[in-house]
Amino acid sequence: IDIKTLRGVTGGITTIDPGYKNTGSCESAITFLNGEEGILRYRGYSIEELAEKADFLEVAYLLIFGELPTQDQLNKFHSDIKEESVVDDDVKKILDAFPKSAHPMGVLSSLTSALTAFNPTTVNVNSEEDMYNAIVKILGKFPVLVAWTMRKQKGLPLNYGDNSLGYVENILKMMFEKPNEEYKQNDILLNALDKLLILHADHEQNCSTSTVRIVGSSHAGLYSSLAAGISALWGPLHGGANQAVLEMLEAIKEDGGDTHKFMNKAKDKSDPFRLMGFGHRVYKNFDPRAKIIKVAADDVLADLGIEDPVLDIAKGLAAEALSDEYFVDRKLYPNVDFYSGIIYRAMGIPVEMFTVMFALGRLPGWISQWKEMRARKEPIGRPRQIYIGETLRPFKEISER
Ligand code: ACO
Repeated sequence: IDIKTLRGVTGGITTIDPGYKNTGSCESAITFLNGEEGILRYRGYSIEELAEKADFLEVAYLLIFGELPTQDQLNKFHSDIKEESVVDDDVKKILDAFPKSAHPMGVLSSLTSALTAFNPTTVNVNSEEDMYNAIVKILGKFPVLVAWTMRKQKGLPLNYGDNSLGYVENILKMMFEKPNEEYKQNDILLNALDKLLILHADHEQNCSTSTVRIVGSSHAGLYSSLAAGISALWGPLHGGANQAVLEMLEAIKEDGGDTHKFMNKAKDKSDPFRLMGFGHRVYKNFDPRAKIIKVAADDVLADLGIEDPVLDIAKGLAAEALSDEYFVDRKLYPNVDFYSGIIYRAMGIPVEMFTVMFALGRLPGWISQWKEMRARKEPIGRPRQIYIGETLRPFKEISER
């Protein structure tokens, strides 16, 4: 059936599918995901191969433009991004106006939205050239905003990176460089961050990506759509889970480290507590990203010689869940965010920044999905509902209420 005539064929029948568990919102050529078999591919390339062989910027290019770049294409892309990595001084003033205690995701969403005002040509993208410029601008400025958000929280002066460095290398420098101290790159951390960003780069029509597409479907600009996506990602059932995982592990540690007690709490239906970092809407056997990142987490911890009681609790929980009937029956396995927080913590990234790191990785995915949505001239997203409220009733004067 032609999708456009479906509504006519069904005589206006409305389907109700809370959480859109069985509803496809679009056709897409970007990411293939098979939740039953644990398969994830970007533009046809397996996530395992990309994580091993590509770097984040190549993956960003692949997602956005559909093919892996040649060396020349990659060099041009990177150099165009570097040229756009300066942020207007007035954006700094907006950042200054936030209290130090502000959650970095709220700050980042606001700053991303604010970029629209300072880059008005990115709002109405009517040509390939406009689109390309909007894309390289945000890929240049977003890491600066991420680094500044963290530096503000830590009370460090705002800085710019070093354009002779690689994209991810430069992000680490901007985040961790200290005044009056020579910055030294740690290759293990660089490799782990690169992998994490690749693994988070796209995940088809998840909550934040669907948000970016639906906001963009009204022809709102790219940056306002991204700002909405950042807000969607913030929630603990989505990207906010990586922060929630670490907070949960800390709480278990503070409580004496009894993982069994918290497993039972998660199983108790009268208790809203859930084991953060377990379960996934679409992966019902394993999360392929979690498999890759678990190895990276083990490497980082071993290489840095980190021994952390919180990490022992994490290992204990994962092992217990794998043999627990409740978790096995419901196919609840550790997801990517169970392990990503462990790496971020080992890197010295504050817990409130974890979801920001996720946003940094997801940025190319959001951009590619927005670009595809516009290129396919998708109609405005506008779901229907089944009304369950009052039927028609006469207005009651205020004196009679
Ligand atoms: N702890 C305990 N029980 C759980 C958990 C959990 N983490 N996750 C799901 N369940 C149970 C539910 O209570 C439900 O049990 P029931 O069938 O007896 O009622 C069953 O498993 C199915 O759960 P749903 O909530 O229906 O599954 P859904 O697909 O809607 O939710 C979600 C998926 C949101 C990821 C969920 O598993 C969850 O809340 N996990 C914890 C948060 C988390 O880690 N989010 C990160 C997701 S990954 C990402 O965004 C990158």
